[in-house]
Amino acid sequence: MIYAANFKTNHTRATTKAYIEALKEKLLTKKPEDKVYIFPPATALDSYAGDFTIGTQNAYPTQNGAYTGEIGVEQLTEFGIKTILIGHSERREHLSESQEKVAEKFTFFKEQGFEIIYCIGEPLEIREQGIEAVMQYLLAQFDGIDITYDNLIVAYEPIWAIGTGRSATVEEISSTHRALKKAINNKPLLYGGSAKPANIKEISSIDGVDGVLVGSASLDAGNFSEMFLA
Ligand code: 13P
Repeated sequence: MIYAANFKTNHTRATTKAYIEALKEKLLTKKPEDKVYIFPPATALDSYAGDFTIGTQNAYPTQNGAYTGEIGVEQLTEFGIKTILIGHSERREHLSESQEKVAEKFTFFKEQGFEIIYCIGEPLEIREQGIEAVMQYLLAQFDGIDITYDNLIVAYEPIWAIGTGRSATVEEISSTHRALKKAINNKPLLYGGSAKPANIKEISSIDGVDGVLVGSASLDAGNFSEMFLA
């Protein structure tokens, strides 16, 4: 299983450092086959060493250059960072990242050999129309995306389950993951959306769930580690 913590716009450089120190203790007893990822905000990126991978929540598809406010490969390489989240619904929505922009970013970071956690998800009004509408919506988020890329992990995050405390049901996750797994040639597939210690056993036992991408419940190191120590 993969356990990925997406801090979003939470934690500072100082609290991320303390978090990682606390997490290291817990990592000593995790199952060796489990993998832990942490995506802190850009100002907290650094060369942390340990049994976990630090990734960036975002970057601009450039080595360097005139892109005010952005970071590129040069800034990530300083810290040995080679993992990126692309396509998160919050960036699609609040930062107006179109499918075209998302696909451009994907292609660039693929060419740089980055490990990509590629996020997809549907809004509530689509979910309410049933699984066929959901799949049509989700598959459109693979436009321009090379799903044969070796270093690809997909994260299915229903938008209505993000930060709401209400995870998708076992049946919703199960049917969506079954259909997605076929569409993505069995690439690793994470679930995200109110995953937490209280539901991790149930979610991780669903066929086709290879891990979780966790927001709110990842912000506390003790809480997050309860998920992979469960
Ligand atoms: P929550 O775990 O807060 O629902 O967030 C999920 C998410 O968006 C992770 O990327």
